[in-house]
Amino acid sequence: MAYPQGFIQELKMRSPVQDVIGRYVELKRAGRNLVGRCPFHSEKTPSFTVFEDNFHCFGCGAGGDVITFAMRIENLDYKDAVTFLADRCGMTVPQEDRRYSNIEKPKLSRERAFSMNKAAARIFYDNLASPEGEVARQYLANRNLEAATIKRFGLGYAKNEFYDLYNKLSALGYTKDEIKENFLCGISQKSGKPFDMFRNRIMFPIIDTSGNVIAFGGRVLDDSKPKYLNSSDTVVFRKGKQLFALNYAKDVLLGNVESKLVKSGEIILCEGYMDVIAMHQAGFTNAVATLGTAITAEHARVVSRYAKTAFLAYDSDDAGRKAADKAMTLLNEVGVDTKIIRMQNAKDPDEYIKKFGAESYAKLLSGSVGQIDFKLNGVLSKYNMNNPDEKLRAVDECCKVISSIYSEVKQDIYIQRLSEITGVKTESIRSMISRDKRKSAGKVKAERRADTEKKTMHFDDRINPEAIANPVAVEIEERILGIILLMPEEYAKCDAISKDDFVTSFSARVFGAVTDLYKENITDLTPLNEMFTPEEVARIFDMRFKRSELSANGTAALNEQIAALKKEKMKAAAKTKNISSDEDLINLISKARKDKGIN
Ligand code: GTP
Ligand code: MN
Repeated sequence: MAYPQGFIQELKMRSPVQDVIGRYVELKRAGRNLVGRCPFHSEKTPSFTVFEDNFHCFGCGAGGDVITFAMRIENLDYKDAVTFLADRCGMTVPQEDRRYSNIEKPKLSRERAFSMNKAAARIFYDNLASPEGEVARQYLANRNLEAATIKRFGLGYAKNEFYDLYNKLSALGYTKDEIKENFLCGISQKSGKPFDMFRNRIMFPIIDTSGNVIAFGGRVLDDSKPKYLNSSDTVVFRKGKQLFALNYAKDVLLGNVESKLVKSGEIILCEGYMDVIAMHQAGFTNAVATLGTAITAEHARVVSRYAKTAFLAYDSDDAGRKAADKAMTLLNEVGVDTKIIRMQNAKDPDEYIKKFGAESYAKLLSGSVGQIDFKLNGVLSKYNMNNPDEKLRAVDECCKVISSIYSEVKQDIYIQRLSEITGVKTESIRSMISRDKRKSAGKVKAERRADTEKKTMHFDDRINPEAIANPVAVEIEERILGIILLMPEEYAKCDAISKDDFVTSFSARVFGAVTDLYKENITDLTPLNEMFTPEEVARIFDMRFKRSELSANGTAALNEQIAALKKEKMKAAAKTKNISSDEDLINLISKARKDKGIN
């Protein structure tokens, strides 16, 4: 409990959960609750619910309070999430309460990582102006970058030396361990000496949407390998989530800044740093790129927070087309429309703009086709329409594409068009499409069923790994914890149970944490965010939520469950044998299945 409870309470009061979440998720009222599409997993039908002060997703199980939400969506730890929300509502974060500062700290704190990165970016930038920087200045000039662009993106140069950055960061007080943790130096296996990770490279600082330098990309000046070197994941950097230049693009995307060439809500996704920079220099300030990885579902969700339409400006080679295909699928899942930009006579946007200019590129943007046309054209061009067999296959594949369209009106338009192109009657196309839809609906249902079964059986339970061996006990434990979480006032009557009565250590930990809070007269569950991971917090809030849907949550219900748990505990103690082989595990699973009446 790093902060005074009064502060946390006021912070929560000034950060209504629907306002904070509303910035990321479009929420609609449904009875007493608000619902929307979950920002933590991909879904089309809303199962993300905001009720009272909390949120809960029926799809992926995410849940918690406003601070859990900020931690998850902005990828922050507890303290940074508190600061983030405090900044938002103009509150000052008070000094930490040192009584509780015995929580294990990572080697490198986020603050230190940010300040080290900022210092490193400064050093790289200054190197560019030094005599050794001549090669780099030459390189950037050859690539048509203007001084203003270099300054805006804070581009720099890592000298062709082994200890330049390391010595400068050491002089600023950063330790060897810290610099290594932050991927700015490596340690030689032979001599044990540290050396600069980035040498003789053009440096691209990667900056998050709050303006912190979180990582670097570095490009060689010649043809040596690897062409680009990117920071590995660190305390402040997760590659699969970051988009390069989103810090610059976000203003125009959200409509906070006017631009001649860019409409708010429209983003351009590129493959490389240099493409993005060339685009921004040409006035397309809505361009971003993933960082040397293919687009992930997390990237797609980030995009969906800033844009309704994404233009895919991928390279015009085979790899680029494959990447565009993947991006289309992932972006569709989060409700972002995609358009594909097709370039000719240039391998990437950087080269295209260099050759043909920004105006031509603007024409490409306005002439880009939507994903459905793109896919249909792809199918139709693959087959010979004069051959009846091939034609049938083409229509069949096109129907699959059309059945994925959500709007019925849009579907109708494409059915008409397909009929005109192929000469197949619209009724026949329609019946093929409804067959495809039935098939995919069946598949979704079967997946859901398997999922629910998996959950109740606790296969893959990463939050409480002991659950698979103790499914009955865990259910009872979670009922007890649910009641205690829901009814703090009942806890006084709950000295009938202690931490030692729990079978699984996760449940015992939750019980310990909650009762510690209650002993301090804290009934608000926010401090749990500091002691548990967001996934664990989700589980805890889920226990509470399940009880809130039932009416019997009083002392009688609690005592009944406590008695049942004590029995289970004895059984567990009697079961001296632990899971020691696959065979034991299989037996346990089949026993658990029998207990639950599943064959
Ligand atoms: P330039 O040659 O500088 O114009 O780069 P580019 O963006 O045209 O390069 P390319 O299309 O080859 O690569 C696109 C993106 O993939 C780059 O911006 C990098 O983020 C990433 N990338 C390219 N080569 C490497 C590599 O060797 N290692 C890693 N980790 N990433 C790379
Ligand atoms: Mn390029």
